[in-house]
Amino acid sequence: TAYKIAVLPGDGIGPDVTKEAVKVLEVLKKQDPTFDIVFEQFEWGSEYYLAHGHIMPEDGLDQLKNFDAILFGAVGDKRVPDEVTIWELIMPIRKNFQQYVNMRPIKRLAGIESPLKNEQPIDFMVFRENAEGEYSNIGGRLYQQHSQEMAIQNTVITKQGVERIAKYAFEYAQKNNKSKVTSATKSNAIIHSMKLWDEVVELVAKDYGDIELESNFIDALAAYFVLRPESFEVVIASNLFGDILTDLGAALVGGLGVSPSGNINPEGNFPSMFEAIHGSAPDIAGKGIANPIAQIWSAALMLNHLGREDLSTAIVDAIEQVIQEGNVLTPDLGGTSTTQEVGSAIAEKVLKL
Ligand code: NAI
Ligand code: MG
Repeated sequence: TAYKIAVLPGDGIGPDVTKEAVKVLEVLKKQDPTFDIVFEQFEWGSEYYLAHGHIMPEDGLDQLKNFDAILFGAVGDKRVPDEVTIWELIMPIRKNFQQYVNMRPIKRLAGIESPLKNEQPIDFMVFRENAEGEYSNIGGRLYQQHSQEMAIQNTVITKQGVERIAKYAFEYAQKNNKSKVTSATKSNAIIHSMKLWDEVVELVAKDYGDIELESNFIDALAAYFVLRPESFEVVIASNLFGDILTDLGAALVGGLGVSPSGNINPEGNFPSMFEAIHGSAPDIAGKGIANPIAQIWSAALMLNHLGREDLSTAIVDAIEQVIQEGNVLTPDLGGTSTTQEVGSAIAEKVLKL
């Protein structure tokens, strides 16, 4: 039976790059008789919000919940507050579908120039906690009528929340023959929530005696990402720390245009969602020059999640070949090609593999 995929192209460059990802998946479907996939597109995003006053229908989550996976473009539009696009679309999907693992590979493909002089391979996985942490809507503004105005924004760290992301990371490490997991913390200064994070991570690590646990303060860890990126294998981080670390990591391996992600529901009781880590890129939207590689690679992560590791690898190999050949690339990678040309070049490679 066919995999059922909900496609949410969103705003800005989201639709452009998502179209190319779907193109590559359609090519695989034609080529491989054992692989079937069907798409249903949902036009939710800023245009929908401007027309309807809400960013998705009231029963939006119900409409999505029976799909095998979601392929998401990006949302964000200057006519709509970011808190609407983030808190009324992305966050409800991540939280309600219990996509508590945000997986973000940091891998330098052959042919990608890193801003670092260091030529060692960079290839590690960051697991960002995706359901709680610093991105909470708990808190508020106080003393609004006085001159001393104050804002409080609470972080939520639960034992269960840390346990499940840590377990996922250690299981991944074990399955993939990794020897070390690095935890991002700041328990020297954030003494309540980050201490609980540390305690729970250490407890989980005890069940995986053959895997080393390294714990670094986030500020130092950011520096180590630049100084010795080759030393990382698996990194776990809270929602905010992971968000920042992965944009930094992306910059080391070619930038946002080539950096994929998956929002994973490990239990499989709801669909997982796959998206490039970049946003809607209003500065280049409509110009046809957005790099589709991040979104095509996200589609590859989706196939891996659906159990087709073979097809996932075929897509990443095709991407790597196109980058290495170097004559069909978008401007962010130093080329002059369009989004569609890069998508087609990757689709052609997939056909030949
Ligand atoms: P952004 O990721 O959209 O853009 C940052 C920079 O990277 C820009 O210069 C852009 O041109 C470049 N860039 C991004 N993707 C690219 C691609 N595929 N190819 C070539 N260049 C690319 O982040 P920014 O500008 O901070 O946010 C823009 C909007 O996107 C905001 O409304 C923000 O809230 C939203 N956003 C949405 C996300 C999502 O849907 N998951 C994630 C991040 C931001
Ligand atoms: Mg981000």
